[in-house]
Amino acid sequence: MNDVLYVNGRFTTTAERILGVEDRGFQFGDAVYEVFKFLGKRPIFLLDHFQRMQNGLQEIEIPVPWDETSFQTMVRELLGRTSFADGIVYVQVTRGEAERAHFWPEGIAPTAIAYTRTFKFPDAAKKERGIRVITADDRRWHGCNVKSVNLLANALAKKRAQRANADEAILLAEHFVREGASSNFFAVKNGRVITHPLDEHILPGVVRDRVIGLALAAKIRVDERPLREAELFDLDEAFITSTTQGVMPIAEIDGRVIANSRRGEVTTGLQKAFDEMERSSPVS
Ligand code: PDD
Repeated sequence: MNDVLYVNGRFTTTAERILGVEDRGFQFGDAVYEVFKFLGKRPIFLLDHFQRMQNGLQEIEIPVPWDETSFQTMVRELLGRTSFADGIVYVQVTRGEAERAHFWPEGIAPTAIAYTRTFKFPDAAKKERGIRVITADDRRWHGCNVKSVNLLANALAKKRAQRANADEAILLAEHFVREGASSNFFAVKNGRVITHPLDEHILPGVVRDRVIGLALAAKIRVDERPLREAELFDLDEAFITSTTQGVMPIAEIDGRVIANSRRGEVTTGLQKAFDEMERSSPVS
C-alpha cells in the first residue's frame, strides 16, 4: 500500500513522482523538515512541531507555506485519508525549484510535502532494557537549531553506531557532549538532570522541552549545561529523548555499562510521566 502524500495543496500517494530534479531540497539540502507522531489518528504536540518548523524556515528565509490553522487542516485531512491509526508524519519544506545556482531567485515558491508512515515504536521490553550508544565526533554545522535536511554528518555517525551494534551515536565536540545523531541527550547525577542548553549546537527537541517540564514539576533539579566528556562515564543514569523513541534509557556507552545496565529511578519516572502526557495530550 502506498502512503498518503500531501504536495503543494493537493493529496496523492507516495507512488507519484512529484519533484523536479532541480528542486533545491535535492540539489542543496535547502530545506527544513519535521517528524511528529500520531496515535489513534491524534497528532501529538502538533503545534510545538509547527512552531519549530516556522522558526527554522524563518531563520533560513524560506516563506512558511501554512499558518497554524491551515497546517492543522492539512494534517487533519492527511490523517483522515490514512488507513492506519498510529504512525508518524514526515513534513518537508524546500526553498523550491529553480535552475541550479547557489544564489536563489527572489520570489521562488517553496515546495511543501507531508506524508504518513507506519512506525514500530519501542515496546515495553525495549523501553525497560534501553539502548547501547557510541560516542562520535560532531561534524555538523553551527546551525543545528534549524531542523535542516542536511543530515549527512548525522547519517554517517548513525551508520557507525549500527556497525558497532549500537542504536545511537552521541555527538561530542571540544570534549563536550551535545546531543544524539537523532535525539537529545540527558544525564542523571546525584538526583539532578543535566542536558545541553538550547543554542546553535543542538536541536530544540519537542520531547526534550516536555521532559524538562516534567522533571521540574516533579521537583527534580535540571541543569541545562554542556556535560564534559569525562563526566560521561561517571553517571548514575542516562537517556535520550525523541519523537519516535520517547524517553529511552541508555544501558551502555562505548561498551561501558551505565547504572548496572538497569533503567534508573529518575529515567523510569520521567519515561512513565512522558508516556502518560503523550497519551492524554489534547488534540492541538
Ligand atoms: N529526530 N536532535 C536531533 C539531531 C534530532 O534529529 C531529533 C529528532 C531530536 C529530538 O527532537 P524531537 O524530540 O523534537 O523529536 C534531537 C527525528 C525524530 C528524526 O530525525 O527522525
